[in-house]
Amino acid sequence: MNEEQLDDLILQSLEHELGGIKVYEKAVECAVNSDLKEEWGKYLEQTRTHVQILETVCAAFGLDPRREALSRGIVRTIGSALLEAMQVALDTGDSVAAELVACEAVVLAETKDHLDWELLGKCAKQLSGERRTHLEQACDKVEDEEDEHLYHTRGWCRELWLKSLGLSPVLPPPEEEHDVKTAIGAARAEQASNRARSRATDKGGHTMAARSRASRKSASTKTKARKSTGRAKTTTRKSATKTSRKASGAKTLAQRKVKKAMTERKAGKLKSGRSGKKVTSRKQAIAIGLSEARKRGAKIPKKKK
Ligand SMILES: [Fe+2]
Ligand SMILES: [Fe+2]
Repeated sequence: MNEEQLDDLILQSLEHELGGIKVYEKAVECAVNSDLKEEWGKYLEQTRTHVQILETVCAAFGLDPRREALSRGIVRTIGSALLEAMQVALDTGDSVAAELVACEAVVLAETKDHLDWELLGKCAKQLSGERRTHLEQACDKVEDEEDEHLYHTRGWCRELWLKSLGLSPVLPPPEEEHDVKTAIGAARAEQASNRARSRATDKGGHTMAARSRASRKSASTKTKARKSTGRAKTTTRKSATKTSRKASGAKTLAQRKVKKAMTERKAGKLKSGRSGKKVTSRKQAIAIGLSEARKRGAKIPKKKK
């Protein structure tokens, strides 16, 4: 492995995270949707931690975190351009446009951020001793968050663009509801958004041609399914999705949020949002988990009184 290039990657990553703080500060200013504002506020705090983590990596690698390089200057220039684009959009006074520009700026910035950490993870596997341990620990702390930053913001960007085009957006985006952390999960979330949109368009009144195209497509899909599985014709896409989710053992957003709340309760870290007191009741922990899931867009009916 080219170790000089690895040093350069670490310094570029640090520069990019430093720029990321400024990008998120400006993006939060541009956000109109309150959920998105809150989401980016959280990512801003995480980016600040990423800077500290990379400074620790620099120390472990004997690198001066302020060392300049041409590549680092280029990273800074790109970051400044993103900031300038958001400011120009804000100055027009068109808040919807500014929010879209901010979404695109964050997606561009997070694409590099995601790549940086993915590459650092691969490099760590080629190292040995203390440097390997330090770099691996850093990647473990950050990689999940970088997945969320990129995939969730891409979802927001797509859906807010669709909203601006008047094309039945799904908000918050399915990436939020499914708490997507992988590329395949992001692709599935996009499909879910497309399905929701086509259902909404059908309800809203399609042309006959479009309807018959859709019904031909669905008929051919059902025929293919019957041919390949020999199952009865009653198999629908919805039940197939449920079955595959069940088979894969994937948990719903509500299940994940309740599990998280229960774990925090056991560790004595769960606090009530209203009183701020420590939560010890199992029932209350479940209620908190369900409420968190609802905030993220999960459709859970309220308990009947
Ligand atoms: Fe980051
Ligand atoms: Fe990030």
